[in-house]
Amino acid sequence: MYLVSVATFLALSVLCSALDNGLVRTPPMGWMTWERYRCNIDCKTDPENCIGEYLIKSIADKLVDSGWRDLGYVYISIDDCWSLKNRDSNGRLQPDPDRFPNGIKTLADYVHARGLKLGIYGDMGKYTCGGYPGTTLDTIKIDAETFASWEVDMLKFDGCYSNSSERELGYPKMSAALNATGRPILYSCSWPAYEGGLPPKVNYTLLGEICNMWRNYGDIQDSWGSVLNILEWYAVNQDALQPIAGPGRWNDPDMLIVGNFGLSYEQSKSQLAIWTILAAPLIMSNDLRTISEDAKDLLQNRLMIYINQDSLGKQGKRIATAGCLEIWLRELVDGQYAVAVLNTGTDGLPKRFTTSLAQLNITGSIFGYKLYDVFEKEFLGTVKSRTGIEMSINPSGVVMLFIRPAATRHPTL
Ligand code: GLA
Repeated sequence: MYLVSVATFLALSVLCSALDNGLVRTPPMGWMTWERYRCNIDCKTDPENCIGEYLIKSIADKLVDSGWRDLGYVYISIDDCWSLKNRDSNGRLQPDPDRFPNGIKTLADYVHARGLKLGIYGDMGKYTCGGYPGTTLDTIKIDAETFASWEVDMLKFDGCYSNSSERELGYPKMSAALNATGRPILYSCSWPAYEGGLPPKVNYTLLGEICNMWRNYGDIQDSWGSVLNILEWYAVNQDALQPIAGPGRWNDPDMLIVGNFGLSYEQSKSQLAIWTILAAPLIMSNDLRTISEDAKDLLQNRLMIYINQDSLGKQGKRIATAGCLEIWLRELVDGQYAVAVLNTGTDGLPKRFTTSLAQLNITGSIFGYKLYDVFEKEFLGTVKSRTGIEMSINPSGVVMLFIRPAATRHPTL
């Protein structure tokens, strides 16, 4: 058995305001091109995987046909490298006609007809990170109007090739310009990631007022090391980051890489568990046309999605560490909780761990609590606060529990 010190959990109510477009009261879910497809513009030799109409349509079809949309994965987002290298004669950004032969509006129509929402990418700066035309202060208005005229539903606004003062003017200006179009457009701001991600350099009160979500930190890559690096940064800086998240305004630790090449099955569960505790957007970047059944089953786990989408919208925290074990806790609506016990170790023997709800500071329910194992999809039983809860956590894996006051009904697993 391991002894853990569990920090007292303070239920502080969050009073910051969110961008007033009514969007993403729970973390957005969907799919995005970047992590998996990068700046692959070679449609001649790789027509199925290049950034273009075919990729977006074929993934949109899968989002619908394989049940993703109905679970909440509704955003399908084109990242960098979609445009031509020059603006048109009216000064507007234009998609590459070889790769998007019918334009973005027609693609948006296709996506909307299937009950999905289309995302696009821009950059507050001279160029995008991939070297395509960026949005400067004087083109913000026309670019916002162009995106709205294409009936786009989300804008990821990156920050390459600009300086801090341009970003300070540009991000709020784009927010106002999007609002002025009258079209509700989810506004995802990469601004904090370009300023080190932390206060006082980053003003998260302002971010919450002008953006719906924001990248705080560096890019995810297709490896477990990258996932560990990101989750560690969010844990170390959680006191600054946790209070700013809430309905309509989310911290974004970057895309889900589950279903790609870099994560084992255990590691895939771990990314999903920690992103869920963090109330993070669940934006996949993978190939839904060839994804394994195992990865699909994890990404479509209903209880995990239920927890991620909890209406309280409160980001969780890492509340204790014990050797290579980490305990992460998220408070949910109606006295419910989610706990993830992560084993970051590489020692081949699964780690045994015993705790109790009292140790986790979960004591409020007089009838005790029902416990569910999220990834085993199993009801474990009803426990009192002091009942010992034993578990075994695989190397680089996680055990995730859903904890619900005993007087309420079972969720559908
Ligand atoms: C930056 C962003 C990534 C992606 C690329 C595109 O690195 O952080 O998420 O959008 O640019 O070039």
